[in-house]
Amino acid sequence: EIRALTPPDILARKGGTPLVCLTAYTTPMARMMDRHCDVILVGDSVGMVLHGLPSTLGVTLDMMIMHGKAVRRGIERALMVVDMPFGSYEESPEQAFRNAARLVAETGCAAVKLEGGESMAATIRFLVARGIPVMAHVGLTPQAVNAFGGYKVQGRGADAERILRDAAATAEAGAFSVVLEKVPDALAAEITRKIQIPTIGIGASAACDGQVLVVDDMLGMFTSFRPKFVKRYAELGDAADAAIAAYAGDVRDRRFPAAEHLFGDQPKPRASGGS
Ligand code: KIV
Ligand code: NA
Repeated sequence: EIRALTPPDILARKGGTPLVCLTAYTTPMARMMDRHCDVILVGDSVGMVLHGLPSTLGVTLDMMIMHGKAVRRGIERALMVVDMPFGSYEESPEQAFRNAARLVAETGCAAVKLEGGESMAATIRFLVARGIPVMAHVGLTPQAVNAFGGYKVQGRGADAERILRDAAATAEAGAFSVVLEKVPDALAAEITRKIQIPTIGIGASAACDGQVLVVDDMLGMFTSFRPKFVKRYAELGDAADAAIAAYAGDVRDRRFPAAEHLFGDQPKPRASGGS
């Protein structure tokens, strides 16, 4: 029997072996990463990665529930965290609890993630006090893309203090970990030293307590989208393009299907049984 990792297990990894995290949106992808990853995040990046949305702002709670259910079926060991989508938690702690409870009850996730630091501290405290562990997310918070005016590095120069305050506020409020996205290396390292919960970096620092990437990005599924902070561990987009082109050529030239893919009029006799 495999014991699943819990939010307290992740919290206890502060300062230890770096936490390995990836996003997943489907059962087969979750199954592939379960034995390698500590945390599997059903990110609201699903809207951009799988649904062709221009940002995460159009992602709904129903989408997160559907992908969360799919991912849950592929996980035995990793901790599963589901993102709270834009508009599902910002209004009040009560609204956040109502929607977080749906994510937990309907997907079987053990924790939720939400974006925001000081401004969400009261909400994080409210959820944690009612039994819902929270992963926080500060720095570049993509749901605030319009307010930021783009996907820009956050916390440069005098702005560093704001990100440090945000990260500290999430720890103080009881979050069991915090994602630091697209902040200067030295700032992410300083935050990691100063707060008591694991920091999980994306475009942050190797000094963070863990790292996370969007799985489709690190697998090279897209040929055009290449952010600096993504290391490509495969070029699956190129491989898929070549495979689809080969199939198209085979069909047009009648090379596919070939004899081995086709059925005869009579069932094939069994090879065994001496007949
Ligand atoms: O939605 C997402 O994929 C995320 C991670 C990149 C942290 O929030
Ligand atoms: Na997200």
